[in-house]
Amino acid sequence: MAFPATRLRRLRSTGVLRGLVRETELSVSHLVYPMFVVASGPKRTPIAEMPGIDHVSIDGAVEEAGIAHALGIPAVLLFGLPASKDEEGSGAWDDEGVIQLATRAIKAAHPDLLVITDLCLCEYTSHGHCGVLRPDGVVDNDQTVELLARTAVSQAEAGADAVAPSDMMDGRVGALRAALDDHGLSETPLIAYSAKYASAFYGPFRVAADSAPQSGDRKGYQMDPANALEAIREAKLDVEEGADILIVKPALPYLDVIRRIKDETGLPVAAYNVSGEYSMLKAAAERGFLDERAAVLEALTGIRRAGADIIITYHAKDVATWLSQ
Ligand code: PBG
Repeated sequence: MAFPATRLRRLRSTGVLRGLVRETELSVSHLVYPMFVVASGPKRTPIAEMPGIDHVSIDGAVEEAGIAHALGIPAVLLFGLPASKDEEGSGAWDDEGVIQLATRAIKAAHPDLLVITDLCLCEYTSHGHCGVLRPDGVVDNDQTVELLARTAVSQAEAGADAVAPSDMMDGRVGALRAALDDHGLSETPLIAYSAKYASAFYGPFRVAADSAPQSGDRKGYQMDPANALEAIREAKLDVEEGADILIVKPALPYLDVIRRIKDETGLPVAAYNVSGEYSMLKAAAERGFLDERAAVLEALTGIRRAGADIIITYHAKDVATWLSQ
């Protein structure tokens, strides 16, 4: 028999053959585009730490959402920068708050675009933590969950197509599901950040969202990067409590977690390709160290291959443009 007996290179020899046997597809229909909406200010202000991403006013958000929609991106994820902050983060559940106003305006202009609202208090609290602080400086879990439930109802009543809690409090998925159901919002899906790690890759976001904790860190509620079994426990609890889609965040350093949660739960999984993952490729591309298009498409294909059905990414508009060329 001729040597070697198996020649895997045969199916790699032309682009057509490679396309025919490709196992993973990256398409615009899987992408979610995050946006930072500011309560007041100019229509667009570039975010220095995230080249290509702007702070947008409500008008700017309608425009930006329209651009994403026209590119075929099915969904946006909204983060709000409120006009003012307080100890409890009351701007989060204000029916006239920045997210509520932006959601109404975007849905009115682009009814077919899905609007997902990020649900957390850190952008709204004066101390920057994701919930209410006890006198000893620890985030009070159960009190925070009540405020998150009010926020979820307010966001869904404003027209959010899905609500995405990113706070990592215990029991919040069940509490949010119950609160939404009690308000006649039983059809609003919960996209739970199940495995959200205490990550250094949120750095640019915290500047962009003005949400860095004023003291301490988030290790008392976000997960230890060393743990995967714990991520599966988190995911299974969220499934029991009624989550519809599970998020793993960040994406690239946690591809194993994406795969394991997908295999263990069978639920739709969304991977959040976070700000630091975005900015490091942008910075490398700006300095000529990497081919941006090739590197981004490879990174996102890898996230899909790991098991993500959905990718939340700041690269969404670029990817939609590249994939349509
Ligand atoms: C809020 C929140 C964070 C991100 C999304 N929601 C930051 C954090 O936990 O500090 C990070 C997203 C990104 O880095 O792109 N809790």
